[in-house]
Amino acid sequence: MSERTLAIIKPDAVKKNAIGDIINRYEKAGLKPVAMRLMHLSKTTAQGFYAVHKARPFFDSLCTFMSSGPCVVLVLEGDNAVKKNRELMGATDPAKAEQGTIRAAHGANIEFNAVHGSDAPETAKFEIGYFFPEMELVG
Ligand code: TYD
Repeated sequence: MSERTLAIIKPDAVKKNAIGDIINRYEKAGLKPVAMRLMHLSKTTAQGFYAVHKARPFFDSLCTFMSSGPCVVLVLEGDNAVKKNRELMGATDPAKAEQGTIRAAHGANIEFNAVHGSDAPETAKFEIGYFFPEMELVG
């Protein structure tokens, strides 16, 4: 079943010039970008996006990092897009991420872990709507 998910190429991966490699992985896996924007998030925008984590000890540091430089925000579409993207990403902690995953290749540690991907279809709906009005989704 075709589905949509939200992905973010985080500021650490953009700084390392990994945008092309990461988008290549999405495309090779059959995940097509249907919306894409280079953005420098404000801290407030990052806090709203990660609101579900606001009680966690890493929340402030995470939002500082996410607003530290430009990132690429994309909507990916394809069969089982949410699960497929989670598989491409690998575990949250790059040290535990399987060989061949994006986080194993580009992540430095559990905070600077290169990419975000929605963790469930319901979360994807909220996250896509947070960045893109329906009319900006093409294809
Ligand atoms: P989480 O939703 O648990 O992971 P994922 O990104 O794999 O869905 O956490 C969201 C982000 O919060 C995670 O990508 C990086 C950051 N984070 C930390 O900085 N420290 C931590 O201990 C955890 C669990 C997450």
